[in-house]
Amino acid sequence: MKRTSIKNLLTTPSLIGTVVEAKGWVRTRRGNKHVQFIQLNDGSTINNIQVVLDMTKFTDEELKPVTTGSSIRVTGKLVESMGKGQSCEIQADTLELYGTADPATYPLQKKGHTLEYMREIAHLRPRSNFFGAVLRVRSALAFAIHKFFNERGFYYLHTPLITASDAEGAGAMFQVTTLDLDNLPKTEEGKTDYSKDFFGKHTSLTVSGQLEGELGATALGQIYTFGPTFRAENSNTPRHLSEFWMIEPEMAFYDITDNMDLAEEFLKYCITYALENCEDDIKFLEERFDKGLTERLKFVVENDFVRLPYGEGVKILEASGKKFEFPVHWGTDLQSEHERYLVEEHFKKPVILTDYPKEIKAFYMKQNEDGKTVRAMDVLFPHIGEIIGGSEREADYDKLLTRIEELHIPMKDMWWYLDTRRFGTVPHSGFGLGFERLVLFVTGMTNIRDVIPFPRTPGKAEF
Ligand code: 4AD
Ligand code: MG
Repeated sequence: MKRTSIKNLLTTPSLIGTVVEAKGWVRTRRGNKHVQFIQLNDGSTINNIQVVLDMTKFTDEELKPVTTGSSIRVTGKLVESMGKGQSCEIQADTLELYGTADPATYPLQKKGHTLEYMREIAHLRPRSNFFGAVLRVRSALAFAIHKFFNERGFYYLHTPLITASDAEGAGAMFQVTTLDLDNLPKTEEGKTDYSKDFFGKHTSLTVSGQLEGELGATALGQIYTFGPTFRAENSNTPRHLSEFWMIEPEMAFYDITDNMDLAEEFLKYCITYALENCEDDIKFLEERFDKGLTERLKFVVENDFVRLPYGEGVKILEASGKKFEFPVHWGTDLQSEHERYLVEEHFKKPVILTDYPKEIKAFYMKQNEDGKTVRAMDVLFPHIGEIIGGSEREADYDKLLTRIEELHIPMKDMWWYLDTRRFGTVPHSGFGLGFERLVLFVTGMTNIRDVIPFPRTPGKAEF
């Protein structure tokens, strides 16, 4: 006999009346001496299947270890259910116990744990309803992302995780070394001698695949990356992780407007995919945590994003009369409170801010004629703030070199990047979507630690 997933058992009418096999983890068992009911879940769906045990066929002794969290195999006839809330149930003929879960020590014995507590048991968290839902949505979104780019002729480029350049300046980096930290080799000047290190130089984990992505785009036309990135900032906020996943499309022959069009289409595509393919999970998360979730997702899909230069955004913030924790004027980097004011209170729509002051943006962004601003674009979302950061890139060799020198970025790290502008340079653009911020938005969760299976944040990397 072959196991059928609970998802298929619940959604395949032709299976009704046949003998089936299900395997999974017991959510609850209740009943009396005549009949017992098990709610069984196998992770294929948020929904449980009910297993009905006629106690003339089973003994109390046999069922005693079948407690919440234990794992079992059952066989029996699948029948339409009389009870409300379920479409069908299994009338058990046999039950086999795989593993027990001692009620005295099983951490998920009771319902209603806080999300904070669940983070402390990250090894068992995937067994909970809420995290199962989040993980299924996360998986669906990852698939939607590949589907979106594949349908549009983009190539998936694998950029390195270990890098010798820290030129992007997107964040503090984690060093990668095999040197013995208790006994470092020294140069004559008394500095660490990295020529003795594994790669013969100082290396780190990447903060972004963009610079390598540009090498791909200026050869294959349009590429995207989708992989982990690492930032060693000590930011303990609900929107920052030390290890997060980023999607970075990069397109030759795209200007900033093409870039914004793609970003908007991309976000709407992913959210629509989740609405269409993760209905049960989104409904569960909505009921449990966020009553306005579906409405908010649909609203984003159905409305045009506002597009606005940074300078205009700052004027709106200054005129708002609102007391922000961080004061705002032309030249300041926007904080989440400013971004959310524009999106949630002023426009009540997602906003794409463009043309930021060059001082607060990366060296590679295309400079505007005003000499003050660059062709940056940040997409700002309700509940999230910045979800995407991107720009048109500086394609002019001399301008790029001048900017690199102004910022004292070491040339020895940058020659390979500059070569894209020396040989067949083209206008091009790209952006980066923080994957967890998208998952955060689509699941309605409020803390980024609750949308990645094993969050890494300052001081936390146990499992
Ligand atoms: O704005 P960022 O730093 O842009 C880049 O890294 C560019 N290289 C992207 C590009 O143009 N190809 O990061 C992009 C996005 C942010 O908008 C945010 O959604 C997310 O990555 N992000 C983080 N997500 C979780 N934790 C962090 N510490 C994050 N830092 C950025
Ligand atoms: Mg950014």
